[in-house]
Amino acid sequence: MCGIVGYIGGNEALPILIEGLKRLEYRGYDSAGVAILGDNLEVIKTQGRIKDLEEKLKNVKLKGTIGLGHTRWATHGAPNDINAHPHYSESKNIVVVHNGIIENYLDLKKMLIKEGHTFRSDTDTEVIAYLIEDFYEGDLLQAVKKAVNMLEGSFALGVMSRDDKTRFIAVRKDSPLIVGLGKGENFIASDIPAILNHTKDVIILENGDIAEIKRDTVNLYNLKLEPIKRNIQRINWSVEDAKKGGFKHFMLKEIFEEPRVIKDAMRGRVRDGKIEIPDLALSKDFLKNVNRVYFVACGTAYHAGVVGRYATEKFLLLPAEAEVASEFRYRDPVIDKNTLVFVVSQSGETADTLAALRLAKKKGAYTIGIVNVVGSSVSRETHDTVYVNAGPEIAVASTKAYVAQVETILLVILYLAKLSGKLGRETEKKYADAFLKLPELAQEILGQSDKIAQFAANMKTIEETFFIGRNLDYALSLEGALKLKEISYVHAEGYPAGELKHGPLALVTSRSLIIAVDTYTPLREKTLSNIKEVKARNGKVLSIASEGYEKIKDVADAVFYVPKTLDELSPVISVIPLQLFAYYMAEARGLDIDKPRNLAKSVTVE
Ligand code: AGP
Ligand code: GLU
Repeated sequence: MCGIVGYIGGNEALPILIEGLKRLEYRGYDSAGVAILGDNLEVIKTQGRIKDLEEKLKNVKLKGTIGLGHTRWATHGAPNDINAHPHYSESKNIVVVHNGIIENYLDLKKMLIKEGHTFRSDTDTEVIAYLIEDFYEGDLLQAVKKAVNMLEGSFALGVMSRDDKTRFIAVRKDSPLIVGLGKGENFIASDIPAILNHTKDVIILENGDIAEIKRDTVNLYNLKLEPIKRNIQRINWSVEDAKKGGFKHFMLKEIFEEPRVIKDAMRGRVRDGKIEIPDLALSKDFLKNVNRVYFVACGTAYHAGVVGRYATEKFLLLPAEAEVASEFRYRDPVIDKNTLVFVVSQSGETADTLAALRLAKKKGAYTIGIVNVVGSSVSRETHDTVYVNAGPEIAVASTKAYVAQVETILLVILYLAKLSGKLGRETEKKYADAFLKLPELAQEILGQSDKIAQFAANMKTIEETFFIGRNLDYALSLEGALKLKEISYVHAEGYPAGELKHGPLALVTSRSLIIAVDTYTPLREKTLSNIKEVKARNGKVLSIASEGYEKIKDVADAVFYVPKTLDELSPVISVIPLQLFAYYMAEARGLDIDKPRNLAKSVTVE
């Protein structure tokens, strides 16, 4: 999720690491640290910013020509000095920096504790350092190979040993990691900007690659330590371009991260046909008494809550409402100790959402945070928190966080349904299998982004639109309308398709564009009728429909098909064409997509 830099060469490592970490600051982080191998293996790390790390470094003289640096985006263990990376092994002979999530870290930690080890931090990462040390018999490469073959999850690693000043080891699985090739020096980094000042020749490591990084050579192996080869690429990007991974805007980069985000949001939660939420503490007994559920949030997070409301009614068979926090906080909602309130927030710092959370708690509700930023105010103040693991989201318009929020909410609701005996084993397996397929379905949609780009370019002069849908497609329509509004400044309304005839149809003319979201199988004929109503008034219709629904082609002006999945999971991927449509409309209109006018990434004031 966040930043790694490694160096071995003839120069002092520390300034190179700090410079590299600063080049990764744009990715967002909560802690930073370095390890330098000189006379000793020294680690200096801190919660906070790189400037706080530099403050701490003023009091020590870290000399050495080999080192590792890290900026953390916490997933396991709150942001604090102890949980910051690099992490020592127990004897402090080995250090590790890590990006990603170790799904089986609790099992491994229990095993190591049983063997008599004592841990210092709450992180998943520390387990890696202890495991490598457990296998270490003088050969760091062998020890790393044995350890990583026991890991499940995503990991970009840098590993250094006190005994070995000739090399450090890097490993890549799911989290990005590159090798930078210099003259008499070599580097690793999570992202190209970190080392672009030193070399333009890079190797993009692939899943399962282990790299032995020495001053004059880099050797690559697979997980069996069999030698492999990778092409060297010359990067001619500017630093700015490199920060966006070659994409024109962070928003597009983050949309294209969604297949990985969908995978990360289910890590440790979907395994062997089962759905588990290990980070949820609430009990079966409590669940038995729950008689009302609220989803409370703002903006895009609220739209994720609308999906949660439908899922709660369907799977938990409980009355459920999705509420805009700025309204909820000033009403007098009917809440007591049998009320479950989900508080959805990417930043975890939105003022209205925090106020609504505090009201719910004051009235006795049990509150669960659905949050992206670990250690944020919402995550600290809710009774329970389930993190969405979307990683840092830079663009003001929330895209990958919405996808992760919807997915996490669906996983939690299905898990609670199982806990309360309302989800049979067969059904659980059906949904678990469907979740596992979502990353590839998302990738399929992204592979057709040019179709959306073309349609958007043709529509760029449109001044107002309606997004219509029913049930879950209505929830998606709300989000599609907000995306378009906030980055292309085109007026858009998300509306229940069945409501058009109760007023809005009066606005439909040949100048109108209607985006009809029609993926929810049970109601798609109904929405098709609404599309016909619009066509009868000469409105233009772009429909988002599920593959196989052929008849809609005869009615809508354009159809974008999304791959079929279970209806209840469809919002996780059907939102992608809506996000792309907003992006390409704004791009066609030449607007400042990552920083739209009048808006902030996190609204921490009323
Ligand atoms: C969404 O694209 C907007 N940036 C905005 O509506 C955002 O979703 C809202 O401010 C809530 O933010 P939060 O998820 O950080 O609480
Ligand atoms: N899961 C690790 C932690 O929480 C690494 C997080 C990251 O990728 O920065 O410390």
